[in-house]
Amino acid sequence: MDKKTINAASAGTISFGGELSVHRLGFGAMRLTGDGVWGPPKNHKAALAVLRRAVELGINFIDTADSYGPYVNEELIAEALFPYPAGLVIATKGGWNRPGPGQWTHDATPAHLRQAVEGSLKRLRVDRIDVYQLHIPDPVVSFDASMETLAQLREAGKIRLVALSNVTQEHIERARKIVPIVSVQNRYSFADREWDYIVDYCERSRLGFIPWFPLGAGKVAGDVLNAVAQAQGASPIQVALAWLLRRSSAMLPIPGTSSIEHLEENVAAASLRLTQEEYEKLAGVPQLVESR
Ligand SMILES: NC(=O)c1ccc[n+]([C@@H]2O[C@H](COP(=O)([O-])OP(=O)(O)OC[C@H]3O[C@@H](n4cnc5c(N)ncnc54)[C@H](OP(=O)(O)O)[C@@H]3O)[C@@H](O)[C@H]2O)c1
Repeated sequence: MDKKTINAASAGTISFGGELSVHRLGFGAMRLTGDGVWGPPKNHKAALAVLRRAVELGINFIDTADSYGPYVNEELIAEALFPYPAGLVIATKGGWNRPGPGQWTHDATPAHLRQAVEGSLKRLRVDRIDVYQLHIPDPVVSFDASMETLAQLREAGKIRLVALSNVTQEHIERARKIVPIVSVQNRYSFADREWDYIVDYCERSRLGFIPWFPLGAGKVAGDVLNAVAQAQGASPIQVALAWLLRRSSAMLPIPGTSSIEHLEENVAAASLRLTQEEYEKLAGVPQLVESR
């Protein structure tokens, strides 16, 4: 595809709670850190260039978290893009502590979430966070207490919209009794459909569904993916992204990369259309995780 015609807008748009509208292909910034999602990226300049190119390619939804780096990822986004272009939505998250590379420990206590939101506001250089996601429910903290804290931070004007990640339907329903929820971010791909019923729930309830690890595939899935990719004259990752976009109008994939070449390849998938047969073939591959 001609590089000039690559644009995330080709994926259509999705609304967050009827308040914010973004193109349905975003960017996950997590990879722009050091190994183990720890410390600075190997090439600082290249990481800034990836973020700037993402915006040039029509991406107006960027996913990050205070725990990526930690802190490094949010700081990079601000360094690359502040003052932010109109319409750019940055979604961050809180609920983890990071004791070291590759290590993640839960902390969704009210005190931690309050501190985390203050930190994200400073690092992102904003007065209000567009979309704040509870990164994951904390097994030893009352889920309602975590959500009530986010509701209070929203009331205080520090968060515009509240969202969830790594949750079940029960979590979503409980959260919605406390505060309006605009999206859910769970692991999902054509070969990893444990959360199929959450995708359907989100579509019915007009919430966004943000799949992370959109390329997850086993060997058989890889073979089917390669065959479809060859027929389409596309790459396997483009086919995996096109499958997600077709799966539901609620879907907002956020493929992550540290390379401009891969970024362009991923955004080009916004205009790739699978046939019904290709879609079904991919939907039928053995699953990595047992379906519920
Ligand atoms: N909510 C959560 O708990 C959670 C968990 C994990 C991730 N996330 C979010 O989801 C986003 C996406 O997830 P992810 O980064 O784990 O998975 P991903 O986007 O599926 O995969 C990223 C990996 O694929 C490679 N890649 C990307 N585009 C490629 C291409 N066109 N060709 C070949 N390789 C390519 C990247 O390497 P290169 O850098 O070499 O391109 C990287 O190693 C993250 O950035 C983060 O924002 C959320």
